[in-house]
Amino acid sequence: MAGWGSFLSGLTFFFGFFCLISFPAEAAIRKYQFDIQVKNVSRLCHAKQIVTVNGRFPGSTIYVREGDRVLVNVTNHAQYNMSIHWHGLKQYRNGWADGPAYVTQCPIQTGNSYTYDFNVTGQRGTLWWHAHILWLRATVYGAIVIMPKQGTPFPFPQPAREFEILLGEWWNTDVEAVVNEGTNLGLPPNMSDAHTINGKPGPLFPCSEKHTFAMEVEPGKTYLLRIINAALNDELFFGIAGHNLTVVEVDAVYTKPFTASAILVAPGQTTNVLVQANQVPSRYFMATRPFMDAPIPVDNKTATGILQYKGIPNTVLPVLPQLPASNDTAFALSYNKKLRSLNSANFPANVPLKVDRNLFYTIGLGKDSCPTCVNGTRMLASLNNISFVMPEVGLLQAHYFNIKRVFRTDFPDRPPTPFNYTGVPLTANLGTSVGTRLSKIAFNSTVELVLQDTNLLTVESHPFHLHGYNFFVVGTGIGNFNPAKDPAKYNLVDPMERNTVGVPTGGWTAIRFRADNPGVWFMHCHLELHTGWGLKTAFVVEDGPGQDQSVLPPPKDLPPC
Ligand code: C2O
Repeated sequence: MAGWGSFLSGLTFFFGFFCLISFPAEAAIRKYQFDIQVKNVSRLCHAKQIVTVNGRFPGSTIYVREGDRVLVNVTNHAQYNMSIHWHGLKQYRNGWADGPAYVTQCPIQTGNSYTYDFNVTGQRGTLWWHAHILWLRATVYGAIVIMPKQGTPFPFPQPAREFEILLGEWWNTDVEAVVNEGTNLGLPPNMSDAHTINGKPGPLFPCSEKHTFAMEVEPGKTYLLRIINAALNDELFFGIAGHNLTVVEVDAVYTKPFTASAILVAPGQTTNVLVQANQVPSRYFMATRPFMDAPIPVDNKTATGILQYKGIPNTVLPVLPQLPASNDTAFALSYNKKLRSLNSANFPANVPLKVDRNLFYTIGLGKDSCPTCVNGTRMLASLNNISFVMPEVGLLQAHYFNIKRVFRTDFPDRPPTPFNYTGVPLTANLGTSVGTRLSKIAFNSTVELVLQDTNLLTVESHPFHLHGYNFFVVGTGIGNFNPAKDPAKYNLVDPMERNTVGVPTGGWTAIRFRADNPGVWFMHCHLELHTGWGLKTAFVVEDGPGQDQSVLPPPKDLPPC
């Protein structure tokens, strides 16, 4: 039986790839089979078992065209429960296919399958998929490439070729064991042992000569790099020695193009850049390493890959790029400021100008007593002093079937007591409470959310991700948000539209979106460390009055709780 199963899945896998070379003119159905399998992998002279999709690390790319329907059947052969999130896909009315465990579904148990069935509507560019349970996304992730509709060109020069570049983190020991150890101690788990480019750390690490990503280019040609930060906890710089990068898209939204020597990508974010092979034909390193401007230890090791001109022998020693210093706040702020939506006739920026609902959420870290932890305390993270507790039933099911006592809808619109958020460090946790509290949002209302970092324990930058939506980043600043002065400085013309945004260390970020997608949508810090400590909540967006404005019925094979 097992033999037949893998034969069939191999067949589906083959046809999955077949799709990519034969785009028909009309909307198509793209089918993929994802077998969750444990595999032996070695990196940095250490062998271990990792959880993978189809035995690949990183997992294969999903190729689709705008307008397609996608069916991904996930079969779980691993010992862990599993769920997969299609990060950045809007899943209109269709939270059932979104994937976060205990938010839109219960996980797929060992031996079971679930088919994610969704349409790709009104989006084109680079997104990605990843496990959305425990820390399994450390090895369970891959790219999603959405090509524009047939006959619609990119709004930038057509590249000669494309490459996907997935940046990740690697631990020498089992990641779930690392996390459990941290939880038992009530401390942050050990940081990663390396960063990776397409799963490979590159030759600066031991035993890694053969684990080096290389891409070949021809002089005079232009290449499109689809860069994804799949790291669990590290914001990353990325650059290529001697070559400028022209940013043309982030989070599957076109940008006004600009040129940079290095880019900054937070976990969850994607960035498409054009690179011209316009230098002396040779071998050049591409490199990635973290940005960290708070007094917090970080895995500061540099992963490298090679950009190699055709015909240049492997014996030529590559040059390293100059990346910004790891604590270069000025670079980070000015880089993010350059990101602007294209805002053209074909790709307008429909920024909500009038706001129906103003939300102000403070981000806090803290310690809580923990009798079962070795040190008697544990780490906690909160929004408006509430540390989120995961339910045991999917929140979307609870909402759709009206199951009582799974969650409350009284998440406060602002913190209980205002304080000097970014003043001297505060060690008290200001009476943080734990709970499964969500915010209810009226259908089609316009929402402004200001995310304010605080100095509870320490300031730190936090990449926030909202499921089910893109939002516009209308403003950002250092220090405390000033509701009397700061809104006047908002960019309401061409702000960046995206799905994950960094709240700067000791600062704030204001986003706006129109709540036109009914369902339960997770919002969380995309640093897995902080999500695990409770830095998350969800919006319950109510159904609208129209026929096509309510949550779709759940699929029959939705995993049981
Ligand atoms: Cu990419 Cu809820 O995450």
